[in-house]
Amino acid sequence: MESLTLYESVAERVRRTIQHGTFAPGRRIPSVRRLSSELGVSITTVLEAYGLLEREGWIEARPQSGYYVRSRSECPEVEARERRPSCKPADVGVEDRVLRLITDSRNPSLVQLGSAHPPADLLPTARLTRLMSAAARRLGPAAAAYDVPPGCVPLRVQIARRLIGAGCTVTPDEVVTTNGCLEALNLAFRAITRPGDTVAIESPTYFGLLHALQLQGLRVLEIPTHPRSGISVDALRFAIEQNPDLKACLVMSNYNNPLGSLMPDESKRALVELLTEHDIPLIEDDIYGDLCFSAERPRVAKAYDRKDLVILTSSVSKDLSPGFRVGWVVSARFQREIVRLKTAFNIATATLPQYAVADFLENGGYDAHLRRARRVYAAHVEAMSRAVGRYFPPQTRMTRPQGGFVLWVELPGRVDSLQLYEHARAAGISLAPGPIFSARQNRYRNFIRLNCAHWSDAIERAVETLGRLVSQSS
Ligand SMILES: Cc1ncc(COP(=O)(O)O)c(C=O)c1O
Repeated sequence: MESLTLYESVAERVRRTIQHGTFAPGRRIPSVRRLSSELGVSITTVLEAYGLLEREGWIEARPQSGYYVRSRSECPEVEARERRPSCKPADVGVEDRVLRLITDSRNPSLVQLGSAHPPADLLPTARLTRLMSAAARRLGPAAAAYDVPPGCVPLRVQIARRLIGAGCTVTPDEVVTTNGCLEALNLAFRAITRPGDTVAIESPTYFGLLHALQLQGLRVLEIPTHPRSGISVDALRFAIEQNPDLKACLVMSNYNNPLGSLMPDESKRALVELLTEHDIPLIEDDIYGDLCFSAERPRVAKAYDRKDLVILTSSVSKDLSPGFRVGWVVSARFQREIVRLKTAFNIATATLPQYAVADFLENGGYDAHLRRARRVYAAHVEAMSRAVGRYFPPQTRMTRPQGGFVLWVELPGRVDSLQLYEHARAAGISLAPGPIFSARQNRYRNFIRLNCAHWSDAIERAVETLGRLVSQSS
């Protein structure tokens, strides 16, 4: 490798601090004078380094204020296309590709851009393990006994408390703890639908949800969802008019997976009002809600629920530990039925992880942990966006997520993401191909979802390789 000049190595140091989240987009970086004295280099060298970073698009100078991290991404934004929902309910098809993607997520020889897993070094695992040991000592024999649905009381109290920050007042009695968010979703659907029923979902949507719907024998109406502002309430209204027998609707109101879209409060209110008018329950998946890039956490749609028709689901899988399998479902109206189903399916949620999470939420520094995670994810999404902008062909488009950690990328029209998936895998890279995010499995052929939770030089090289593969097939 060529050796760097002094100003290039100063630029490289600053670039790395941006990539690793020390300075998030919109933040001011050290002044020229300060960096020159901290690094023991001349002011001219720092000016040259900042000039290079400006040309590369990492930072921008603001008159009389200093240098700031730019949030510019180089690709145009993915645009909303369809306005009309599908009027005919569809069966859900889920291919083996989804199971392969999940198995691949444990394969250490692949660069993991496929599954949306948080990075191990960002999770408070040591702390949680200590809290679990402390809970085991405190509980004695009860630590190894079955918990009983609705689940661990201290955890349900913490969940009810945290929901106040999302604009929602519930009591701990309305909360049922589950094995992750996916079980919460399954219980919610099972409580309010029967096989053969039709439900409305966002398009695109999380493939694990499609899998669950398929196993429950449900049919779907896929509702157009805007890459920034989420499900179209007008399109849903139209879909309800055409399908008055619709039994439920599911949204990820805060940072849809894979779009990262965030419904404005007004749309959340309108959505709840529309569904209430037709007495259709809304299932809300808020798993990414705490991972906003701004300081203020967005409200949940349940905040606008006056008739107790919104069933809220979430878990700690994206911010504390996917392996603890601690999730929850919140609903006063359907609580009894959910408890009955939960008991029939798997008796209870594992005892000790619930106590450890409850203790962490109460006094383990959850807010400080979230502040760091939000900063790091914002920086990693930015780094990935820039890398895609740099290495992918110019006709590429991508989303501008304001939370979560996935990026939805639209490739030039001729690229087949299923073929790209195979080629990338052979090159040691996993990715999530677009068609698995639709029930029909034939939409989003030229889209991929990239996991941005991790960032490193190896990942940047993998994105460069992907860009080459995309160029070859476009
Ligand atoms: C939107 C969404 N909901 C639910 C889940 C499943 O969550 P859990 O691992 O808590 O079951 C995921 C996991 O990726 C997800 O992205």
